Amino acid sequence: MVDRPNKPSALTSTPAAPPQAQIDITHNHSQVSAVLPTGESVEVLLHGATVVSWKDAAGAEKLWVSETASLDGSAPVRGGIPIVFPVFGSAPDHEPTSKLPQHGFARNSRWEFLGKSTSEGSSSSVKLDFGLSSSSLSEETQALWPYKFGLLYSVTLDRDSLNTTIVITNEGDVAFDFQTLLHTYFRVKDITSVEVSGLEDSPYLDKVANSKEETQSSLVTFSGETDRIYTPAKGPKHPVVISEGGAERFRIVRDNLDQVVVWNPWVDKSAATKDFSPKDGWKNMVCVEPGSVKGWQKLEKGDAFEAAQSISLP
Ligand code: BG6
Repeated sequence: MVDRPNKPSALTSTPAAPPQAQIDITHNHSQVSAVLPTGESVEVLLHGATVVSWKDAAGAEKLWVSETASLDGSAPVRGGIPIVFPVFGSAPDHEPTSKLPQHGFARNSRWEFLGKSTSEGSSSSVKLDFGLSSSSLSEETQALWPYKFGLLYSVTLDRDSLNTTIVITNEGDVAFDFQTLLHTYFRVKDITSVEVSGLEDSPYLDKVANSKEETQSSLVTFSGETDRIYTPAKGPKHPVVISEGGAERFRIVRDNLDQVVVWNPWVDKSAATKDFSPKDGWKNMVCVEPGSVKGWQKLEKGDAFEAAQSISLP
């Protein structure tokens, strides 16, 4: 074997491991934060497993959270990504869920942090897992909805996306019905220049007009209180895109979630909502909420339902 004249010298130390996402558990174990080595970050409150912050590498916040949101567990968080389960809104005529609070109990329960994992061979993503089960609910809530269930919620932060996945399991002996939704509050600069695409030709229920059935003819724009339940015609993989002034801001793809709720409370509803602040905050937010909220999903004993939203930045 010929000896090479410019043979590299032997390594004196093992190469450094790729930088790992930094995980901080802060606020007396009430919040989990993760920061990627490139600067992107996410913060999740154990209360409701609510994502309360998602920032890009430049530190720009992507989610809207009210300045007076309760973050201490006394009420659902007004903003971020609350989880709706097992009922969307209220369902006085659906006996099993009729006694539950608006949007169910998941957003108002303390979840457990189950741990984190980073994507193999890469430092660019981190997954945070959270769990809630019937046994960790208060006795009062268990009495209102006496089913045995498990919820696993995973929040995955990538350099230019956030993915949240929910797995619902029936751990009891009887089937139960549920609805679920990921109530994402997106931060925008000016709601009057926001357009939502991907819902064209889709039927929707207009909750502002007594749940009248309509069909979306073009892009969704905002000029007053908006509260609509869309069943997108093109299916979950077709992206729903939030643009501002013609520039794309967020691209949302769904998995196993057949509806998209679009909500902006505008002037009067914001004024009437105690924890909504500042009062003109409606100008800076739009909720685009993937969910399964028309009719009921029935989960048989031992079965699981998995669903997700994936939000990408341009
Ligand atoms: C939306 C509903 O998903 O949530 C609206 O479509 C509702 O009707 C809104 O007003 C906020 O609900 P809450 O319970 O957080 O005030």
